[in-house]
Amino acid sequence: MTNAITTSALRPEDQDLIDRIVTEKAGHPGALLGILETLQEHNRHKYLPMETLDYVAVRTGIPQSQVYGVATFFALFNLEPQGLHTISICRGTACHTRGSRALLERVKLQLGLRDSGDKLTLTTPDGRFSIRTVACFGQCALAPVVEVDHAIRGHVKEQALIREVETLRRRNAE
Ligand code: FES
Repeated sequence: MTNAITTSALRPEDQDLIDRIVTEKAGHPGALLGILETLQEHNRHKYLPMETLDYVAVRTGIPQSQVYGVATFFALFNLEPQGLHTISICRGTACHTRGSRALLERVKLQLGLRDSGDKLTLTTPDGRFSIRTVACFGQCALAPVVEVDHAIRGHVKEQALIREVETLRRRNAE
């Protein structure tokens, strides 16, 4: 199957960026993962738009289904725009038994996010916060574990987390 895909939705500068990253990483082990990771880092809203995935398929010659498969398999990739701040709450067994569900529900309430699911990524309508659940950070001895903007917090207490989120919220409002 050929990659007969329209890429007209991409801006020329986005195509140039993808061209450059594909050229840099092609031929290295795990090239596709590295390409997608770098493109997500460069995206202002920390996600991989569909037209980006389409163009990666065209440029690498990797089947579109395989590119989508990688982007959807790995939890680190986002297919929707992410908030300015990301709060990732571990829902693994150790964290669950130490109260991570209550942390998740409390932060959702604080940010006015109502989805009742457990595995999720939710973003506030103003685009300031995303909440995600994670299967395990590999830091189970520190349960419950929460990551706030790439900083891992261990033995997280509800009130401390609420204060931290409130501080970020106020900082953005200034
Ligand atoms: S279960 Fe939460 S860090 Fe492992």
